[in-house]
Order: sequence, then C-alpha cells, then structure tokens
Amino acid sequence: MKKDFLWWRDGIIYQIYPRSFADSNNDGVGDLPGIIGKLDYLQDLGVDAIWLSPIYPSPDVDYGYDVADYKDIDPQFGTMQDFEVLVKEAKKRAIHIIMDLVLNHTSDQHPWFIEAKKSRDNPYHDWYLWKNPKPNGGPPNNWQAVFGGPAWEYIPELDQYYYHMFFKEQPDLNWRNPQVREAMLDVFRFWLNKGVDGFRLDVFNAYFKDPEFKDNPPQIGIRPFDWQKHIFDVSQPEMYPLLGEIRAIMDTKKNTYVVGETFLADPEQTASYCGDDKLHAAFNFNFAENRWHPKRFLRSAQQWYNALSDDAWPNNFLSNHDMHRTATRFCLDEDDRRAKVAAAMLLTLQGTPFIYYGEEIGLRDIPIRRKGDVKDPVGKPFWPFFKGRDGCRAPMHWSPKENAGFSTTNPWLPVHKNYLKRNVETQTADPDSLLNLFKQLIRIRKAEPALQRGDFIPVFEDPQYLLAFFRTYEDQQVLVVLNFSSRELLFDRPEGNWSALFGAEPPETGQLTILPFDIRLLKKTA
Ligand code: NOJ
Repeated sequence: MKKDFLWWRDGIIYQIYPRSFADSNNDGVGDLPGIIGKLDYLQDLGVDAIWLSPIYPSPDVDYGYDVADYKDIDPQFGTMQDFEVLVKEAKKRAIHIIMDLVLNHTSDQHPWFIEAKKSRDNPYHDWYLWKNPKPNGGPPNNWQAVFGGPAWEYIPELDQYYYHMFFKEQPDLNWRNPQVREAMLDVFRFWLNKGVDGFRLDVFNAYFKDPEFKDNPPQIGIRPFDWQKHIFDVSQPEMYPLLGEIRAIMDTKKNTYVVGETFLADPEQTASYCGDDKLHAAFNFNFAENRWHPKRFLRSAQQWYNALSDDAWPNNFLSNHDMHRTATRFCLDEDDRRAKVAAAMLLTLQGTPFIYYGEEIGLRDIPIRRKGDVKDPVGKPFWPFFKGRDGCRAPMHWSPKENAGFSTTNPWLPVHKNYLKRNVETQTADPDSLLNLFKQLIRIRKAEPALQRGDFIPVFEDPQYLLAFFRTYEDQQVLVVLNFSSRELLFDRPEGNWSALFGAEPPETGQLTILPFDIRLLKKTA
C-alpha cells in the first residue's frame, strides 16, 4: 500500500446494518461482538472503514434512527466495553469506524423530549420545534411527514403542535437553539474521543427549517409528501456555517471523515455541502438510483464530478439500508453477471466506493409477502404499493448452515431462501464468485493509484452497451471497459502498449473483442 494512502479517499467503505450482520449471542439480532468476529473477513475483503448504522439506545420505531441517548450503546447490540473492543480490534486491522449520527431528530423517548413535552416553560421545551395551532385549531402549516400524514403532532396539554419530518416518534430538534447546537457538537467530540474516525450524518440538510415556517408551494406528486415543493422544510442557508463548525471539530483529529446524507437534493446542491470547510463528502443518490444503462451511469458520474469543487472528493454507492439491493434491481433471478459489472463499475470509478453489507455476495432483497410480516413501520401505511425497507435489511449469509450462519435462533427478519448457495463460505470456495471478484478488484484498486485517486476521462464508444473510461494519475493510465449487455462487441484499442490488470490480455493490434458482460481493466505499459 502506498505511503500516502488516505483511508477515506483511497480506501473502501463498508456499511454494516448491525441488526443483520452477525449475531454472537443467538438472540436473532446482530450485535457488536458479532461484528468483531467478522473483522478478519472484512480485512480480507479489503475494507478500510465500516459505517455502522445506529447502535445507540433506541425504542426502534425506525430501527435505531430514533435515538434515545447519543452517548451510549443499545444493550441489544452490546455494551460500551464491546464498542471499545471493536474500535481496538478494528484499528489493529487498519479498519476505521464511521458512526451514524442522527441529529435532525431524537426519539420521543429521549429524556430531552420527555422534558420538552412537560410544559411550555420547561428548559427543554425550546429544544424542539413547537408552534401554536392555527386559529381553526389546525396544524401551523402544510408540511407533510416523509413517512405519511401531516408533519405536526398536537399535544393537548400544551395546546401546541411539534414538528416531525419522519414518524411522530421522531420529533425534530430546534437547531437554532444554541444549547441544542452545543449538545450535538458534543456528540461528535464524544465519539472522536472513543476512537471513531468518521461520521455519516443522517438527513443533515434538514436540520434547519424556514424560521417563519412558511407553507411549501404545491406540486404534482404521488404521495402527499410529494405534493409540495420542499423549499421551506429542508436545505436552509444556516447549514453552511454549521458545517464549518463540525469540520473544525473533525479537524482537531488527524484523518477524520464526515459524509452527509442529503435529503431531496440534486447533485449540485449535494456537492455544495462538500469541501475544505464543509463535509468531506455527501451521498449522490442520483447515481445510485440509475436504471441499468451505461449512459445513465456515465452521465450521473460526470454530473457529480463536475458539481464537486476541487477541494472535495467524490464517493459512489449503489445501495444502502433504504433502497432495494443492487442485485435485486439489476439481476435476473440468480444470475450475477450484472452484479459483477456493477461491482466493477463501483470499484473502478473515481470516488470512494461504499459497499452495503451483502452486496459482495449479491444478496437479494427478501420477498415481503404479508402485511403482518412487515417490520419496518413505513411498509404498513403504504401496503401493498410500498412494502417498506425490510427487503434489503435481512441477515447476512455467512454459510449454508441454519439461518445462513447468522444465528442459531430465528433471526428478526428471515434469511433469503437462496442462502444455501449464496453465502460467504460457498462463494469463498468458488473462484468465479461475485465475492472473489470483489476481492480481486479491491486488490487491483489498492495497487493502482490511478484507480484510487486518478482523474476520470470518459470514452464515448458504444454508450448504449459499454461504459468505458480512463483513470489517469501522473504518468499512469488505466482503461476500464465494462459491457452492460449480453452482446459481444468490438472496442477500438487505444494507442500505445496495454496489458491486462483484469480480464483477457488485449491483442497487440486491432480491436478488442468485448464478451457479454465483460470486465476489462487495461494498464498502459511503457
Ligand atoms: C434516513 C435514514 O437512512 C433512514 O433509514 C431513516 O428512516 C431516516 N433518515 C430518518 O432518520
């Protein structure tokens, strides 16, 4: 590995949904000792950092995204001591820890909110967003909750409404209150002191809302939340100076990283939050949500790179705990060919790759057949049109054993029925598996500075079927050619001498034959 290797720029980040990764005490829910037990696996895969979806005490209305204590560990995942062991063991393997900070809202069970609800003059009252009813008793404005229904909940004892962008059990904090701001900034310091190196900020661009709570203007959309333009409930200008403060805290420690999840923001808006005195990075949903078409991926990658300023570094992801898995979206049944091309794209494009646990073995969403089986509360109100996010949150498949080796008890969500064939153990033994492809490509990426931090130069040849681009760094050049289709194609060989980093060696002259779903990485030789 190069001496100047910077983990968050040159490395690979792996998202773990802790409930579903590895269950060490066989209670059906994954936990921290489970993750510790899999660190060797992650190291072998080539992972440089793990982002842990929330592990704080939570009533789990939104599975951890409703935090009841920002400075502790939920007992179902283990103890603070387990966390300290995790940090230590991860560090031994050069794996960094990224915590998920959910600071837009708390749980309604957070002591702050319990206090805030007691009376209008309670010292914590102003920590949340309260408004008086309209003269007709109705909610203060037309804002809607993302998860359905109005965004305002009435508390008769106070004759006031409080605002919640998500569930009513997730009241939004009042970030304009200096005490809230300080308490939240302290959360960063707390975990940095525990040895954490990075944070993922949940819906950070929603922290501030319009101070006058103006009505959002209408627009056409599918659900009530989409019937309005979200002008006043997200992306307020106060976010920029706050990011500067967050960054200053991050910069008190060497080589830290903070990546934001923007909500309802286009790539340009998302990019505007990244840079030297802002976030290191933010997630570009536009790229992740593409259909299977090389031109679309190419366009959104270019749009993303163009939007980012020179002091920001891109990142790329294809799935997370809120969306259908990569293989579910792109693959037909158990055929992994598209998943392989998708992996090659993720691991060769410019930008830090984020892998969602199980993506490396091509996990598919579990089918959700009955409303009664739904765990994610978002899946209930919109049933059967939207079945919630359980599909992509099912347990990891470790082996062909009972419950895919995740747990000896029935897990909180069932494992996919394909686990007998699709699991880490079986794929490790198969040289052609998706898992072994991930490992090889990660190793190649790590050995090639051009792939880690090189410029991106697209090649517009057959963009209907092929995604092709150069990555260049100093005098090094890598050419990537990915066939998104089942057609055999010809590709004009670029000038110079090239040898294969992955896939067949190129012929010395003439065109390259690109096989169906081919993955070709060529390096320019002297
Ligand atoms: C975004 C998170 O990714 C999602 O899982 C969660 O439900 C909402 N934010 C609310 O915190």
